[in-house]
Amino acid sequence: MENYEISDEELIKHAMNAREKAYSPYSKFSVGAAILTEDNQIFEGCNIENATFGATICAERTAVSKAVSEGYRSFKKIAVIAKGDYCYPCGICRQVLAEFCDVDKFEVICANEKGEYRKHKLLELIPYTFKL
Ligand code: THU
Repeated sequence: MENYEISDEELIKHAMNAREKAYSPYSKFSVGAAILTEDNQIFEGCNIENATFGATICAERTAVSKAVSEGYRSFKKIAVIAKGDYCYPCGICRQVLAEFCDVDKFEVICANEKGEYRKHKLLELIPYTFKL
């Protein structure tokens, strides 16, 4: 299993699965994400909206929070999918992902409804990343 690689397509399937759990009664925009750890664990996340709107959490941050709270802090890639066009992580999620990876290595797989995808290094999505 050591050399077994989780494919991009497989990770997208997990993101699709997560999207089914989305709680998005306000925007009706369901998002799913799946993040892959360095040791090939997958954590799925969905967006969870709130009546205050501001307390909403995106799918990507749900996935990261699940992983980090289970003790995983090293990641290889994340897949994100919504409805319709290619779904890109918001600015806050890009910054949160940057906290836990090398931005020039970590991959962001942005899928559309058909499961087609575009792949980017996180650095492309958040150049001049803020780090302390
Ligand atoms: N959303 C995500 O879950 N991830 C993104 O990358 C973009 C936005 C959610 C937040 C909110 O529940 C809904 O999509 C509309 O903004």
